[in-house]
Amino acid sequence: MCGIVGYIGNKNAVDILIDGLSKLEYRGYDSAGIALCLDNKLDIYKYKGRLKNLADNVLPMSLSANIGIGHTRWATHGEPSDINAHPHLSQSGQIAVIHNGIIENYAHLKEWLIDEHNITFQSETDTEVIAHLIEVFYEGDLLEAVYRAVRRMEGAYAIGVIAKDDPETLIAVRKDSPLIVGIGENENFIASDIPAILNYTRDVLLIENDEVVVLTKDKVQIYDSLEQEVERDIYKVTWDAAAAEKEGYQHFTIKEIHEQPKGLHDTLHLRLTDNANFKFKQIDISKEQFKQFNRIYIVACGTAYHAGLVGKRAIEKLAGVPVIVDVASEFRYSDPFIDDKTLFIAVSQSGETLDTLQSLRYAKKLGARILSIVNVVGSSVARDSDDVFYTWAGPEIGVASTKAYTTQLMAFYILALHFGRLNDTINNEDFFAWVEKLKTMEELCVESLTIKEQMQRISSECFNNENIFFMGRGIDVDVAFEASLKLKELSYINSFAIAAGELKHGTIALIEENTLVVALATQDTLYDKMVSNIREVKARGAYVVAIAQTGNTAIADVADEVLYIPKCDNLLAPLLSVIPMQYFAYYVALDRGNDVDKPRNLAKSVTVE
Ligand code: F6R
Repeated sequence: MCGIVGYIGNKNAVDILIDGLSKLEYRGYDSAGIALCLDNKLDIYKYKGRLKNLADNVLPMSLSANIGIGHTRWATHGEPSDINAHPHLSQSGQIAVIHNGIIENYAHLKEWLIDEHNITFQSETDTEVIAHLIEVFYEGDLLEAVYRAVRRMEGAYAIGVIAKDDPETLIAVRKDSPLIVGIGENENFIASDIPAILNYTRDVLLIENDEVVVLTKDKVQIYDSLEQEVERDIYKVTWDAAAAEKEGYQHFTIKEIHEQPKGLHDTLHLRLTDNANFKFKQIDISKEQFKQFNRIYIVACGTAYHAGLVGKRAIEKLAGVPVIVDVASEFRYSDPFIDDKTLFIAVSQSGETLDTLQSLRYAKKLGARILSIVNVVGSSVARDSDDVFYTWAGPEIGVASTKAYTTQLMAFYILALHFGRLNDTINNEDFFAWVEKLKTMEELCVESLTIKEQMQRISSECFNNENIFFMGRGIDVDVAFEASLKLKELSYINSFAIAAGELKHGTIALIEENTLVVALATQDTLYDKMVSNIREVKARGAYVVAIAQTGNTAIADVADEVLYIPKCDNLLAPLLSVIPMQYFAYYVALDRGNDVDKPRNLAKSVTVE
């Protein structure tokens, strides 16, 4: 949540900050602001609402500064307002700060600053304490003042700091919130995420926890918590700025839905050797070690959790190890059966979701081996893991997760096969047959995308519905959960997903004339049972849209509308059946006039509990 960006160099900081923020707006869009060091003072411009408000106000002013910081906010402490927007200024106007994260002891610090230093607070934010703290400790050495301040701060933060009296220095600190540094020629950058700086450089430093970075226009120095300078290799970003642009699509969400074949291809092929074996750069679990595991936990949030539900089915079927799947926010407060015989799999697109990160740390403390499935390279979840599987989805900017989900599914299929080999539950012949099936999924995904127009029409007929139900059996229920979440978050329609067999135990009471029910029926062994469930809701007046595999035409006799996905192995069907569901959520939201890329109340990366 919240995006931060900072610039120091010879160019106009305003343009670079606004451009950077436009790439980070997916992280929060309640307000936006910048601070500039101009004519020996710090000027702050900040506005409630979307970045456009800031840009429309600031760009016509033709301001010109060579150092500045910018912020786009997802409100936690204090409502979205101009006053609560970042940057925040210290009492005398000496220090300006931007912050992503939460200062857990801010109330205590605030009291101390008021009582001991007569500070008057302007906002309701936790962040404002940081600006005042740094000013209180500032005696001409900004780095020292920042160190003294962060030693008092508890919580999670990535901060950017500039000082009126030190216009040649930009300082940033990272603790449990993402922070990268971009290295340019006679210019340097800080940002929460790589897309913010990709128009200017592909040379990046990944900043670690508890590190403080000092940037001037021609130098970047990283210090650890003991104030010792540390070396860091440059990480060369391999994707270009276009990957984080809309490239002619109306929204990132639809662009990312269309990028799924590529995501599947890259996630599979980048670890497939010439002789169809898997090679993992960052997974090092031996046969002996794997055989020690008597259970696997999969823990994640939201869409990543839904991918975990499918992951459980794949691992149990192919590798024969019992799997428990839990949502991270609950897992942390449970008494899980975890010890050194547990493999713990954390799944996260951003790699920064706090509940997932804290669950991983909890499991680690209990002795588990930690493997993470992560999209963002170098993110906190990846760094805290023993083994990492990177999904090669590329940057996902739309707040609703689409291509991250399908690449997470692909990751689970690959891992399940790998585990099957380690556990001797799958022989070579079957393994290679499965790899061949996985290879075909990219093509079948392309084919599935042709369902778009049919889905667009159905959406235009349904977008006024107040309630929509999704049902399925077996692995289809897992996709039903994801379909329902996607629809809720994009369209704001009340929707509900249920195992079709459970309907008659209560929920069927909600079905009445014209209630829309989406029935996923892709599983051969459960097909007849699904047809019966469709009949049950039809008998109560429901309008049924069914999803089935090509060739299963009998379903057209009971459903009002059928969407056919290409034939594939039943275990792999979620890779295809989710596509019409993503289109459905997208087009319904569009028909309702919603902001598809930035749904209300949400943010891309959830770094609060
Ligand atoms: C829904 C969505 C969220 C995320 C969840 C976890 O479309 O995007 O439910 O899946 O917040 O985020 P990550 O995967 O970044 O941990």
